[in-house]
Amino acid sequence: MRLSDCHNVDDFRRLAKARLPWPVFDYIDGAADDEATKARNTAAFGDVDLVPDVLAGVAEIDTSIMLMGRESALPLMLSPTALQRVFHWQGERAVARAAEKFGVWFGISSLATVSIEDIGALVSSPKLFQLYVHKDKGLNASMIERCRAAKFDALALTVDTIVSGKRERCLRSGFTTPPRYTAANLLGYAMKPRWGLDYVFREKFGLPNLDGHVSEGTGKAVSIAEYFNTMLDTSMDWDTAARIRQDWGGTFCLKGVMSAGDARRAVEIGADAIMISNHGGRQLDGSRAPFDQLAEIVDAVGGEIEIICDGGVRRGTHVLKALAQGATAASGGRLYLYALAAAGQAGVERVLGLLKDEIERDMRLMGVTHIDQLTRDRLRSR
Ligand code: FNR
Ligand code: LAC
Repeated sequence: MRLSDCHNVDDFRRLAKARLPWPVFDYIDGAADDEATKARNTAAFGDVDLVPDVLAGVAEIDTSIMLMGRESALPLMLSPTALQRVFHWQGERAVARAAEKFGVWFGISSLATVSIEDIGALVSSPKLFQLYVHKDKGLNASMIERCRAAKFDALALTVDTIVSGKRERCLRSGFTTPPRYTAANLLGYAMKPRWGLDYVFREKFGLPNLDGHVSEGTGKAVSIAEYFNTMLDTSMDWDTAARIRQDWGGTFCLKGVMSAGDARRAVEIGADAIMISNHGGRQLDGSRAPFDQLAEIVDAVGGEIEIICDGGVRRGTHVLKALAQGATAASGGRLYLYALAAAGQAGVERVLGLLKDEIERDMRLMGVTHIDQLTRDRLRSR
């Protein structure tokens, strides 16, 4: 299978699976417990149908939106994801360059394998830093200050990882950051020599935004679950979030809100946006899907805060359904991570091109020329 054989996100998932050692693929593809929520995140879009208008004169359409104070060429954001250097040697730089080429927001994780400064200097397109609140308060302050200096456009505080979800695929594979070989996974790594050569001989793996504060994750190999449960501040609460909002002072987003009550509290602490998210099903298995929960949250706080529907998005129609339901934008991680793993920057550019084409085609077939014409009356539940 080659890059040119990839015509949708699922094709990229297959190519990624062919090219990655299975422990790395399972870290991306996997989720918590029975992975029921991960499956529902995408299936939820299938329970709602679009009602098209015709003869609407759609020769010229505009797919752009304003999101967190910046223009985005598409109503789609690339969600922050960790450890990208492990998936492909070009890592976060590939995603940043592809996002800039398509004029869309992207985010880097606290556990990014590239520094805040590198990304800040690399692209001028809208960029977000995703903050994990660590027990080390000096580290939290350091990351916020570095983002301010590097002129990041927004800070997203992730609030759904107070403890780690049970990632059973990673328990079986022994996946850690940095990757370590075990009797169970050695063959899996050995069977992917191209990945191995890139990992060993290209730029050295590191978590540069944590340097000087923690060695777990770089000097000391740990699972993501162990990292979450030992390094993050499990006492984090709304006062913490309000304090971070004040400390940052810029555009502020809460990532991982799922209840209408919490959406209201996000408005009260002055957040500019929320990402309705269950972390791609990687945390609370059995959680509702963001798309299922979207209408209730839009009814509660729509118009008072921007609402990003995060997770399960694999098609242009998923984006249009989320927008019609009232989201400001949709976002996703695996939708670009499979492509990154499969083919680096060329892969991410191809998948963004495919999703852009789908969004444009689907808008025309819906008979809409602007995003704001996507309203609830264009949807029907089955
Ligand atoms: C993630 N996600 C994530 N979220 C976050 O706030 N910080 C992080 O470091 C990561 N890391 C990460 C790694 C991998 C491999 C995945 C798949 C996901 C969650 C991510 O931002 C997003 O919420 C989900 O990926 C959305 O679900 P989909 O689009 O992957 O179905
Ligand atoms: C994950 C963390 C890093 O989902 O957010 O793997």
